[in-house]
Amino acid sequence: MKLINIGCGQTLHPDWINLDLVPSSSAVRSFDIRRGLPFADRTCDVCYSSHVLEHLQPAQASFLIAEAFRVLKPGGILRVIVPDLEQIARLYLATLEQSLSGDSQAIAQYDWMLLELLDQMTRTHGGGEMGQYLDRLNAPNADLTLDFVRSRMGAEIDNYYQAKQLTRWQKIKSKRPAWYLQKIRIKIAELFVLLIAGKQAQKGFQEGLFRNSGELHRWMYDRFSLQQLLSQTGFIEIQVCQATESRIPNFNDFGLDILQGQIRKPDSLFMEAVKP
Ligand SMILES: C[S@@+](CC[C@H](N)C(=O)[O-])C[C@H]1O[C@@H](n2cnc3c(N)ncnc32)[C@H](O)[C@@H]1O
Repeated sequence: MKLINIGCGQTLHPDWINLDLVPSSSAVRSFDIRRGLPFADRTCDVCYSSHVLEHLQPAQASFLIAEAFRVLKPGGILRVIVPDLEQIARLYLATLEQSLSGDSQAIAQYDWMLLELLDQMTRTHGGGEMGQYLDRLNAPNADLTLDFVRSRMGAEIDNYYQAKQLTRWQKIKSKRPAWYLQKIRIKIAELFVLLIAGKQAQKGFQEGLFRNSGELHRWMYDRFSLQQLLSQTGFIEIQVCQATESRIPNFNDFGLDILQGQIRKPDSLFMEAVKP
């Protein structure tokens, strides 16, 4: 089986071909999916993408789904996972109502829902306000929202805190030489922008680079709009499913959506479709 993990981040399995703009290890092939998918027509059995589509502009996302359609064999499966805009919007409204009625615990939950809605679209630095909220939550004497945030983030919250504990040396070792080379090039370019166009231009340059780094959300989906996108591309048998359900053989053994028995990203919309 030829299995493609599109925008894998740190979530990989050796049986899959793992693609990412920013490879997290040598097992990941560096590739910008805005260019399409680097495979011939009708050669793949499964395309899987988790929390990636929302990082693309709508036209780029349509192109990516069309590319998945092109590379899949007839009968091939597309599995797409995105943050669930409907669920986020409903929880935002519910926690807003509770906060307005004076429920103090709901206020912290409301703050988190606002972050889910806005932070990844607007942030200008890695981790954004959401990272700061998670750091406050982990501090001694933190307020009571950890259970709520855990119910939203699932196993991802542990990954976040584990990554925070990496030593400086572990972080240095995890990057490839090409990453450091690019950092040096960018620093030189920043210096030129500062010298030629001034401080504001340098800030704009830095922010622009960050906004193109793959961390930002550029759109969001619900079960209606994602279904529309897949059906307009030609996919059939489109189904919303549970994190634990899949038509991909032995899917839960790969540790992609389920990690040590826990749902990795419970705040998600899980959808599968088939190429006719
Ligand atoms: C939120 S992470 C999700 C990672 C992983 N799929 C998961 O479920 O944990 C989004 C990933 O998409 C990648 N990405 C964003 N834009 C991309 C692009 N144009 N080409 C390839 N990967 C991209 C990012 O580098 C990042 O690893």
